[in-house]
Amino acid sequence: MHPELSIFTSGSTHKIRVGVLGSGKGSNLVALAEAARLPKCPYEIVVVGSDVENAGILHRAADFGITPVYLPPGRYRTKLEPEAEQHAARVLREAGVEVVALAGFMRILKNDFLGAFAGRVINIHPSLLPAFPGLQAWKQALDYGAKVAGCTVHFVDQGIDTGAIIMQMAVPIEDTDTETTLHARIQDAERIIYPEALRLLTLGQIEMQGRLCRHAVAKG
Ligand code: GRF
Repeated sequence: MHPELSIFTSGSTHKIRVGVLGSGKGSNLVALAEAARLPKCPYEIVVVGSDVENAGILHRAADFGITPVYLPPGRYRTKLEPEAEQHAARVLREAGVEVVALAGFMRILKNDFLGAFAGRVINIHPSLLPAFPGLQAWKQALDYGAKVAGCTVHFVDQGIDTGAIIMQMAVPIEDTDTETTLHARIQDAERIIYPEALRLLTLGQIEMQGRLCRHAVAKG
C-alpha cells in the first residue's frame, strides 16, 4: 500500500476534497461535477485550475459554483515554470485539496507539484495504456491500425502516462471511424470511468500492491 494513500483507506468521514486541473473545454470536469452532486458521492470538487486564461473548463467550473483559478504557466510551453508549479500547489493546498484530478491538463507536472500531492494525482488518458501514450492518442491508434482503442484512469508519476492504472474502458475502432468519431466515442467512455474511478478511490476501495491497483471490497 502506498503510504500516501492512507487517507483513502481509513474510511473517511468527510467528503474528500478534489482539485481539478485542465486546459481545454472541460467535458470531464462536467462529468466529475455532476457525479459529485449525487447523494452519497464521497468526493467534492473544491477548486478548478487552468493554465489557459479563458479555458472552457474555468467557465464550466463557474457553472457548477466551483471556484475557477487561472494559473499563469510562465515561459515554457510543455511544463510549468518551477515558481508557477509551486504557486499551483499552494493554491490547491490552500483550498484544502486532498486529491488532484487532471482533466486535459496539457502540461507535464514535475516534482514541485507531484511532491506536494505524492500518490494523490490522477489523470484520464484517451488510450488503453501502455499503448499510445502522449498526444492525440486516438489518432495514434487509428494510424497504427489498432482495432480497439479506449481510455485509462491512472496515477500520475514522473513519466508520461506511465503511472499505475486504476481503470480502463475499451472502445472498438470501426472501419468507418475518423479521428473525430473515434475521439468522441473515447470521450463518452472517459465520462463514464473517470467519475467511477474517483468514486472508488475516494471511498478507499482501490488497493495498491506495487503498481497493481485492485478494486477492494469495502471493509467493516
Ligand atoms: C480528454 O479527452 C482527455 O482524454 C485528455 O484531454 C481531454 C480533455 O477534454 N487528457 P475535456 O477538457 O475534459 O473536454
